[in-house]
Amino acid sequence: MRVAGALSGLMANRTKFQAIKGTRDLLPPDTELWNRVEQTAREVFGTFGFGEIRSPIFEPTELFARSIGADTDVVGKEMYSFDDRDETSISLRPEATASVCRAYIEHGLHAWPQPLKLYYLGPMFRRERPQKGRYRQFYQIGAEVLETVQPGQGGTKDIPKDAAVDAEVIEMVMTFFARLGLEGAQLQINSIGHAAENCRRGYVQKLKAALEKVKDKLGPDSQRRIVTNPLRVLDSKLESEQAIIAGLPKISEHLCEDCAKQYAEVKRQLAMRGVKYAENWRLVRGLDYYMRTTFEITAKGLGSQNAVCGGGRYDGLVELLGGLPTKGIGFAIGEDRLILSLQEAGKGGAAAGRDVFVAWMGEKAQAAAIAATQRLRTAGFRVELPPVEQKFGKALGQADKLSARYALILGEDEVATGLWTVKTLADGSQAKMSEAEFLEKLRNEVKK
Ligand code: HAM
Repeated sequence: MRVAGALSGLMANRTKFQAIKGTRDLLPPDTELWNRVEQTAREVFGTFGFGEIRSPIFEPTELFARSIGADTDVVGKEMYSFDDRDETSISLRPEATASVCRAYIEHGLHAWPQPLKLYYLGPMFRRERPQKGRYRQFYQIGAEVLETVQPGQGGTKDIPKDAAVDAEVIEMVMTFFARLGLEGAQLQINSIGHAAENCRRGYVQKLKAALEKVKDKLGPDSQRRIVTNPLRVLDSKLESEQAIIAGLPKISEHLCEDCAKQYAEVKRQLAMRGVKYAENWRLVRGLDYYMRTTFEITAKGLGSQNAVCGGGRYDGLVELLGGLPTKGIGFAIGEDRLILSLQEAGKGGAAAGRDVFVAWMGEKAQAAAIAATQRLRTAGFRVELPPVEQKFGKALGQADKLSARYALILGEDEVATGLWTVKTLADGSQAKMSEAEFLEKLRNEVKK
């Protein structure tokens, strides 16, 4: 068996392990920023009425194939799929929209107050070529709004409502980015219409015909896409193809009346909310479930992988997965990229540090130091208590290394008098005070 073989191999050569290519460990103090970002997401999304969903990290392979599309790069080349012991194929989730729709159907969430607003945070898995901002295990912060169409509703009548929902979802991401102080976030929007002859299907035929004419000037990837997914040619970043793509027919000129109206209304709604955007007719996105509104947000300091958020509308996906006719709109933020961009802009935050380092000396002082530490921690302060006695100089050196704010010096004298010696490490000043006075000082001076 492969596992047994791997085990005996390891015993023999004592392999030094490394994280698998494209995966990485997140360590302090970086994880403080990760936590701050996630906490801010929870707070901001909460103010828009979103609740959290936690879905499994693996799902049936078929769920992703049907939702994202069998011909997409994500499903065709990038999924981690394997046979379970009962030989059903399962995959590590490459994204979470499909899982949210599955959960919506499975738990009958159409019966909950509508529209249903859910957000999620967590790892996703795609076997892409790793580079800056691109990993095989990466993290997304996403949100979805789902609404099952009631009898007598839907169609043209819903255009203003759908457009307002689209705009509010986009406004929420931009609010979140602004709250984090993310600089240079740029929103691009587009409409890719809907799958009908008088809309996207008709456009794709025209696009295909135009592409066939210039086929010889395109690279192998785009040539292949003329057959598998012509829209994706518009996504090409190849320098040599840019001029050719600029001359191709544009979808905005081929939208049906309803899709055109919806797109115009989304732009009006964004303007009403003070959300700045640029239109990009080439923004088609790489997943098959989208229709009408698509959007992406780029951020600074990321190099070529500068998309920090992608999303769009996906009416019909729930139905495709066996549920009722349901509308959907959502986005996912690449958290790794968001963090990178914040760090590049110097918004990473200070190193963890300690509020208090307890420098204790003498056996009697240890019991007092433990009790003092317990009370300070209960009050919410970050306290380092050395496990063994240290010489004074060494203790202060360590307090400094840990970026402690105060050293609490506890020797026989302090224990006997009940007055603590408190040293402020920034300026070396020292003062005697009672425990109550020290707590008061910490409350006033340390931001919790
Ligand atoms: P996506 O564009 O495939 O959309 O991914 C969203 C974001 O995830 C990207 O903009 C990027 O920031 C990040 N991302 C994707 N792949 C990687 C990677 N290999 N390494 C690092 N970051 C990555 C979706 O996943 C859709 N489910 C979004 C959505 C939700 N649409 C509607 N609802």
